[in-house]
Amino acid sequence: IILCLGTLLTTVTWYWLDNDVGFHKPPRPKRGVGKLSDVCKDCRSRLRGQCNGFDKAIITQENTPIGSEIVFNGDGKKLKVTREIFNTFAKENPFKTRLDTCALVGNSGILTDSRCGKSIDSAQFVMRCNLPPLKDGYEEHVGIKTDLVTANPSILEHKYESLMNRRLLFVEGLQTYGNALLLLPAFSFGSNTALSLRAAYTIEEFNSPARPIFFNPGYLQNLSVFWRNEGLKPRRLSTGFFMTSLALEICDNVELYGFWPFGNHPYDYYSLSNHYYDDMKVSAVHAMPAEFDILLQLHSEGVLKLHLENC
Ligand code: CDP
Repeated sequence: IILCLGTLLTTVTWYWLDNDVGFHKPPRPKRGVGKLSDVCKDCRSRLRGQCNGFDKAIITQENTPIGSEIVFNGDGKKLKVTREIFNTFAKENPFKTRLDTCALVGNSGILTDSRCGKSIDSAQFVMRCNLPPLKDGYEEHVGIKTDLVTANPSILEHKYESLMNRRLLFVEGLQTYGNALLLLPAFSFGSNTALSLRAAYTIEEFNSPARPIFFNPGYLQNLSVFWRNEGLKPRRLSTGFFMTSLALEICDNVELYGFWPFGNHPYDYYSLSNHYYDDMKVSAVHAMPAEFDILLQLHSEGVLKLHLENC
């Protein structure tokens, strides 16, 4: 009986995914989620009005002068901006004009063997999360073009020994992304700051073409409040979800790849690793399936395009 019920449930779920939300057919709004329909109705303009990522997502010398106080969104720490810190800020807003098409690439195992590399690279602006590997066989599936890549300090800790030893490895690793913007959450937690500044200083000292920029914690805080008011209450939003919210403000067309926080492929049902390059488990502070529900809703309303199929 359990086996039959399990099979029935799986069949109904996949039938619903294939036919009701329809990644191949024109999408219809998802049923039974009530409030979400309202959320997404004018999501872009509301994000613009309440969070203003276009001007405020990134700390710049224009929006954060010497002497101003930075309040960390993760632990509430406060920091007065000294000249030395100010000098590490972007001189001006890196998003000067609105972008046409952006591909935002999450790290889900769904990208394995997807052959989506060309499609991703054809976007005007490509954003990636957490310094993901692109070479050694991945390129065909995830592409190589990178205009912006994020780096959580935990990656710098594990991959590059917190930049306390041989920093050349970090600089060599960055070569994959050319002169992309390197987005660091330097002022989210007190423990992030020194490490993020070390990354920026290393880039400068080694003449790396990468361009470090810092997330504005005030913007991240506004985003958390925005989504909490819409019913999304994880301990921390995932990098991909923060980046999706930003992309909705700075890009006219947002194409998502590599967003699928589930253990089986949506069409062929075989098991997937968490990332396309490893099977490190999702941190318990995130609620990626709940975030995915919202992404699906945005997709079904035509606000963004979620790619789950192979290319
Ligand atoms: O830093 P974080 O743990 O949030 O992310 P990650 O594991 O490096 O992956 C980057 C982003 O891809 C995540 O923040 C998610 O939005 C998305 N992702 C997903 O949708 N499904 C997965 N299985 C893994 C990541």
